[in-house]
Amino acid sequence: MGDIAAIILAAGKGTRMKSDLVKVMHVLGGRPMVDWPVEAARDAGAARIVLVTGHQADTVREHFAEAGDITFALQEEQLGTGHAVACAREALHGFSGRILILCGDVPLIRPETLQKMMECHASRQAVVTVLTAHRDNPYGYGRVVKGYGGRILGIVEEKDATEVEREITEINSGIYCVEASFLFDAVASLRSDNAQGEYYLTDIIRIATDRGLPCFSFPVDEPEEVMGVNDRVQLAAAATIIRKKVNEELMLAGVTIIDPATAYIEKGVAVGRDTVIYPNVHVSGATVIGSGCLLEPSVVIRGCRIGNGVTIKAGSIMTDARIDEEVTIGPMAHLRPETELRAHVKIGNFVETKKIVMGEGSKASHLTYLGDATIGRDVNIGCGTITCNYDGVRKHRTVIEDNVFVGSDVQLVAPVTVGRNSLVAAGTTVTTDVPHDSLAIARVPQVNKEGWRLKKK
Ligand code: UD1
Ligand code: CA
Repeated sequence: MGDIAAIILAAGKGTRMKSDLVKVMHVLGGRPMVDWPVEAARDAGAARIVLVTGHQADTVREHFAEAGDITFALQEEQLGTGHAVACAREALHGFSGRILILCGDVPLIRPETLQKMMECHASRQAVVTVLTAHRDNPYGYGRVVKGYGGRILGIVEEKDATEVEREITEINSGIYCVEASFLFDAVASLRSDNAQGEYYLTDIIRIATDRGLPCFSFPVDEPEEVMGVNDRVQLAAAATIIRKKVNEELMLAGVTIIDPATAYIEKGVAVGRDTVIYPNVHVSGATVIGSGCLLEPSVVIRGCRIGNGVTIKAGSIMTDARIDEEVTIGPMAHLRPETELRAHVKIGNFVETKKIVMGEGSKASHLTYLGDATIGRDVNIGCGTITCNYDGVRKHRTVIEDNVFVGSDVQLVAPVTVGRNSLVAAGTTVTTDVPHDSLAIARVPQVNKEGWRLKKK
């Protein structure tokens, strides 16, 4: 299809968001809204992407600092969408192919639709193709004005439209495919004599038709794909649409979601079949969940790898953890980064872990903090055990070898090692290494002073 570049308009403030944050950086489906059109352009085959920034340009640039295919064009003053495109001229100097224009606030567009629009554009040898939609309620969008035989004549903005034009239900999505040779010439000749005093990109249609150049509209099948996000009501509506699509894909692939309206699973998360997800579960980042897992209500998972047959009970939170098969977690457990749990481990209620490896079959069933520790296989960690890993300056490791039994209310003052097969008695503060096969006990002997209470009285 030849060379494709994309211009993405993201300079506007987004006044209707009533926010200190620029509109396109508002989070939608777990990432800044502008990520969505950028990804769509990329997946549609745009080898070069120019992002037009203005408001909080540095914030937007910083977000894309790692992206090698993006260049930035600065629009210092927001004089309209046409002016924004003109600002991208320099960045595309010498480019002679086809340019996709997308809006940073039209995030639901799919790459397949962009590709179809470009194919249509090519086969009709069009100079401009505008992506449109038929909406029952076209309020707020530019209307597509057509003449006899459905020939597109121009686009008129809500604020400039006559009463008759406002009745038109075909709307401008703000997404276009334009020949580079025409585009920059056309935007250079725009005027701002309209209701908003802006240089409207939409006027390039009229310029093309005036010159007798072929222009077409390409309507999408699903109008919601081109919904614009101008305020937070629309932001939430767009998020709901994304979520619905993600959930439907998972369900069709064999995942049970008890109530899809309250399952918050980000795009890109993988879930195996026969996994059951209860309400108010949040899963984000590069999380992979195996098959046959159970996620009880209000579980929060970020960036974890979870094996098959894992049960995560209500209210548990886990970040950047690796969980092998048949592990049981929670309720109300907190797994912090670099937690690695091997098969058949059990982590019970009110247990917090961080930077630990816990060997196969080991258990910490209640009220425990395990941080900076290496724990072997078949270890039992009693209720109330604490790895004292921090001396106020540095973190130290605790090592607990295979088959150790740690009684309740034990403090392990790191760095310390408990050798294999040993037993640490309840209430012990372990300050020196325990050899294998031993008993470690450190308790102040109990004294019973008989009649003491009576004497006091
Ligand atoms: C625009 C279209 C309208 C279309 C609608 C689709 C024009 C004149 N109108 O209206 O026909 O139905 O999108 O959602 O094009 N931007 C800049 N610089 C500017 C102005 C805007 O970069 O000077 C960016 C904004 O950040 C935004 C996008 O362009 O991402 C659209 O701007 P916005 O002001 O939201 O246009 P609409 O009024 O929605
Ligand atoms: Ca808009």
